[in-house]
Amino acid sequence: RVSPDWLARLPKTELHLHIEGTLEPELLFALAERHGVALPYADVDALRAAYDFKDLQSFLDLYYAGADVLRSEADFHDLTRAYLARAHADGVVHVEIFFDPQTHTARGVPFATVLNGIRRALTDGEREFGISHRLILCFLRHLPEADGFATLEEALPHLDRIDGVGLDSSEAGHPPQKFERLFARCRELGLPCVAHAGEEGPPEYVWQALNALRVCRIDHGVRALEDPVLVAELARRRIPLTVCPLSNVRLKVYPSLTRHPLRQLLQAGLVATVNSDDPAYFGGYVGENWRACAEALGLTREELLQLARNGIDASWLEPAAKARWL
Ligand code: ADE
Ligand code: ZN
Repeated sequence: RVSPDWLARLPKTELHLHIEGTLEPELLFALAERHGVALPYADVDALRAAYDFKDLQSFLDLYYAGADVLRSEADFHDLTRAYLARAHADGVVHVEIFFDPQTHTARGVPFATVLNGIRRALTDGEREFGISHRLILCFLRHLPEADGFATLEEALPHLDRIDGVGLDSSEAGHPPQKFERLFARCRELGLPCVAHAGEEGPPEYVWQALNALRVCRIDHGVRALEDPVLVAELARRRIPLTVCPLSNVRLKVYPSLTRHPLRQLLQAGLVATVNSDDPAYFGGYVGENWRACAEALGLTREELLQLARNGIDASWLEPAAKARWL
């Protein structure tokens, strides 16, 4: 059994974190007040009680509804700053954060408002907490590829402040292939690509993320375990998986944490990492994901060290910055 102190001090990364998914009910209510928005919940407790999900879609419905209170640059700044303070308390030294511009531009919030707020908090956070960062623009896969192209067009003037692209939202029925041309364009622009695949979707979607989108990392990817040839390919190419254990339990991918395959992923030689996904909705920031997994799975010190090393290794830090942690 590892000591809580040792685990708390372990230098951690977070490579799978939707900034909109860090919107705590308290901040959600405060922002609703700031903007005079009426909420269909009596109070913070009533809202939190609604966070009882049966699958990915039932979560996404609330997540998109919640994001409606994010309107000004200050909102995005405050959201990101609150997240970084939590991450710092968990011993996080480097973050790679997703944002979903389409969720905001569709409501009339300008792309630059979103980006400026998040970026300013990240820059401040580097100074204040010593947390290094990357920012990843995610395309919403339930929308047409053409909408993704329009979003990329809006992003073009800001590419110096966008470090890569991803693909998220409703997985079933929206295979990676649907975005093959968009991701080809992003790669031409020099943007590294990641995609959610194999969370609820089948191993075939992970293959498509690799072969059609040419991603350098798979977000979730846990269902890859159903396909031994895929597991061998991911291991051979050292394609990292950004695994989100508490998210998987809350969205009913696994019935409990004791049944989570984190250890099997490591034993298969995969570059598995630990992340929180949407911590305000799933009941735990990244530190809690580490603690809960260590406890439920009885992870050894060696396994936990491997997970921490994998996080640094899987990150987009330059080699010299990685060497500082490895
Ligand atoms: N958007 C936010 N969290 C997500 C997840 N876990 N899967 C797909 N899309 C998401
Ligand atoms: Zn996610």
